[in-house]
Amino acid sequence: MARHLITSAIPYINGIKHLGNLVGSQLPADLFARFQRARGHEVLFLCATDEHGTPAELAAAKAGKPVAEYCAEMHAVQARIAEGFGLSFDHFGRSSSPQNHALTQHFAGVLADKGLIKEVSETQIYSKADGRFLPDRYIEGTCPNCGFEDARGDQCDNCTKQLDPTDLINPRSSVSGATDLEERATKHLYLKQSNMRGELQTWINSKTDWPVLTTSIANKWLNDGDGLQDRGITRDLDWGIPVKRGAEDWPGMEGKVFYVWFDAPIEYIACAQEWADAATGRDWARWWRTDKGASDVRYTQFMGKDNVPFHTLSFPATLLGSGEPWKLVDYIKSFNYLNYEGGQFSTSRGRGVFMDQALEILPADVWRWWLLSHAPESSDAEFTWENFQAAVNKDLSDVLGNFVSRVTKFCRSKFGETVPEAGTYGPDEEALIAELTTRIRAYEQHMDAMEVRKSAAELRAIWAAGNEYLQEAAPWSVFKQDPDRAAAQIRLALNLIRLYAVLSAPFIPTTAAKLFTAMNTLDTRWPEDVAEALASLEAGHGFSVPDNLFTKISDEEREDWAARFSGIRT
Ligand code: MF3
Ligand code: ZN
Repeated sequence: MARHLITSAIPYINGIKHLGNLVGSQLPADLFARFQRARGHEVLFLCATDEHGTPAELAAAKAGKPVAEYCAEMHAVQARIAEGFGLSFDHFGRSSSPQNHALTQHFAGVLADKGLIKEVSETQIYSKADGRFLPDRYIEGTCPNCGFEDARGDQCDNCTKQLDPTDLINPRSSVSGATDLEERATKHLYLKQSNMRGELQTWINSKTDWPVLTTSIANKWLNDGDGLQDRGITRDLDWGIPVKRGAEDWPGMEGKVFYVWFDAPIEYIACAQEWADAATGRDWARWWRTDKGASDVRYTQFMGKDNVPFHTLSFPATLLGSGEPWKLVDYIKSFNYLNYEGGQFSTSRGRGVFMDQALEILPADVWRWWLLSHAPESSDAEFTWENFQAAVNKDLSDVLGNFVSRVTKFCRSKFGETVPEAGTYGPDEEALIAELTTRIRAYEQHMDAMEVRKSAAELRAIWAAGNEYLQEAAPWSVFKQDPDRAAAQIRLALNLIRLYAVLSAPFIPTTAAKLFTAMNTLDTRWPEDVAEALASLEAGHGFSVPDNLFTKISDEEREDWAARFSGIRT
């Protein structure tokens, strides 16, 4: 039994995420977590809300609430929606937790002890119109690297370069649009990550099995010369983790907080502490400290491509720089972007479908299936209502749903609601078992490798194989001449339904649960031997015909939704 630590990039607290965010981290992480659990491995799957920084402050102000109160409410909202999507986190934590405060201050302290933190007097952008220092991401301007005009002060969304606001050409306040920005003196802490370039390069070079998307972004910033510039890790803000050196005050840093990108990844560890603190008998160090058993852990992170520099460079610099035995990530699965109907999903403009809206119109499994089977892996992908309607109607209704419905209803009408006993398997059944064996082994390999689209394609082929078998076997006509033969075919097909539930559960867990209930079985074991797995439901075993599993999306619904989500979210 292996031990898998799995984290999804932690979503910002301000507002509900769109489907592009979901498919870029939380959903594939859930797929992997569910699969590894189903294989009998021990899994700790963690996510949290990313609660610091100005976006949280501004969103709270807009909602007319104290930030702490706003964050508590939004955490509950995000937790509920995550549950609605079947995201099976072992813990959904908060980067504002006391555990993260202490741990972030601890890291700053040890990094300072190791000489990896320097104090820098610098100038920061102050907006007279707004009456405040402007945090990085609230300054927009032209990217000095690629010329993109809407680059933010922390990062260019077009070329992924990490930026300082003073790098921007023609900077403006994104709060007010004001351009009368001035630089004012202030003192900040910098993490000397440039000291660690060699160590980080060696570490990245050792990751020969990582996706090209991940390593190419990491190497780009390592080799570009300025990618590993020392990074400011403090900010002039009220909301955040107060700058301290361990438990001690940090002279000169009064009133400042750590930069959100410094404390957010540390929440991956603090989240495990929150999980452990929430019940007895849980040991976080077993997952995170290599001196406490974590060297046996396989740690996988899921994230969108814009997050890669922070996870390949900044966070490892924190962990390695501490000199303490922290577990480093073993594999980073990163994603491209999902676009929406010829443009981008946009949180600020409310364009596209957001997680709460998605659940209002269709069951989670329908979304899970489409999103995962179209995951933006090797390139950006695009959501269109046409494709969505066609794909889910075909895969879920015509293939899987139809199979289940035909088999259970036919059995009920000819043999009653029990697995029929008569008849034996012949060459057709053996051929099916052989095909399924090959396909299931391929499915396992793709799932282990986090090849999300390939996994979905293989699962779809497994469903289709059952349909083809049923079509050729045609028990409804065989029944007239040879009812025993038809009974054997249906016995196999009923067992296939249970097998489909096992194999499909990581993708469509709610549907899988319905199938287990209908098949009246607690046998959720992974099929090591397919013939044996297809003998799980024995003759005489009672089942029931499930309600229609999937309702087809009509043209009218598709048109309504396309119109409803094209505009501005209100
Ligand atoms: N909140 C960030 C985003 O949505 C992700 C933070 S991931 C972590 O892009 F590593 F910082 F935790
Ligand atoms: Zn750029």
